[in-house]
Amino acid sequence: MHLSKEEEKIFAGEQGSIRQKAMELIVSLGDIFGADRLIPIESAQIAGVSYKNIGDAGLEFIRDWSSEKVTVKSTLNPAGCPAEGWEELGISKKFAEKQAEIISYFSRMGVETTSTCTPYLVGNLPKKGEHLAWSESSAVVYANSVLGACTNREGGPSALASAIIGKTANYGLHLEENRKPEVTIKVPIKMFDYSDYSALGYWVGKKIDKLVSFDFGYEPRALLLKGLCAGLATSGKIGMFTLGKGGKAETIEFTEDDLIDTYSWLSSKKRSWDLVCLGCPHLSIDEVAKVARILKGKKVVVPLWLFTSREVARQAFFRGYTDILKRSGAKLIPDTCMVVMPLEELDFRAMLTNSAKAAHYARSMCKLDTELAYTDDCIKYALGGRIG
Ligand code: F3S
Repeated sequence: MHLSKEEEKIFAGEQGSIRQKAMELIVSLGDIFGADRLIPIESAQIAGVSYKNIGDAGLEFIRDWSSEKVTVKSTLNPAGCPAEGWEELGISKKFAEKQAEIISYFSRMGVETTSTCTPYLVGNLPKKGEHLAWSESSAVVYANSVLGACTNREGGPSALASAIIGKTANYGLHLEENRKPEVTIKVPIKMFDYSDYSALGYWVGKKIDKLVSFDFGYEPRALLLKGLCAGLATSGKIGMFTLGKGGKAETIEFTEDDLIDTYSWLSSKKRSWDLVCLGCPHLSIDEVAKVARILKGKKVVVPLWLFTSREVARQAFFRGYTDILKRSGAKLIPDTCMVVMPLEELDFRAMLTNSAKAAHYARSMCKLDTELAYTDDCIKYALGGRIG
């Protein structure tokens, strides 16, 4: 791979050991994937934040690197607990302190500690054609497919390395020739809810390892595509899709049976759930508003946890939604989510959710029984202990 004189100097360690390590990481990835050169990036989005996921080894890695500064706009994925109010959720002081330490290192490096998987809703909104180094898988698919930006699915360390150097290696989804769909997924069935889009993404990720184009016959709202992106990123390795007929691509139809099968894969066939979670990926302010309207003047009888970014939580507070939610007994929780928080250490057994990604990981990482359900049914269950 060709390096400029300046890049060679960093590689040789002339600008310090951390910049050298960061450069080595980017170059070795570029060599593995056949990149010809490095290209500048507009922003980085860094995963690998939760103490639950990275442990002491990850904490030490970030501490070692925290003497360096990032050189492009950089935002952070959800942490293992909110900065405040973690006691109410049953999270231990030790865990919260370790998490705060990790966040402080990122902050020292100049990373915006947004702690969200929806950076595009809180100010890290790339323009079409911009090159990025993002690592949250659902946000990567969203950036490539909905926003038209270009990013590979980076790991946490490689996104951090790119944030420091301000560049990434030119391969994969940075190249136009790798962004063309090979399969069209025709969706002739009626899609009713966020959970249906989420299930569709999950089904495609499981069945198809090529770049796809979704032909709905209409353009779904961006907030529904948020669920589709997360589902796709969970069960497969595809980093983007397109919308429309997909040219000469092979066509596969997504049927009612496929949709029902997907719900069934993510269901533990329970009759009762002791936790209802929405907000995977993190809720937008419109989604928070919708839940608040439904809950106004009512009380939940099953814990209803709503995950969002700190910025959306701030907006919800000023618009009066936080108060409505609080009165209903629902919790609006910023900075973290049902998967990256230590849910398995809390006293829950079965989770109802409208997100295929949340259902998938709550099973595998938090050892909970799960059920994928419509958003309204999730809320109804929280209100009455039954669906419908
Ligand atoms: Fe975001 Fe957590 Fe889902 S990071 S995409 S809410 S698993």
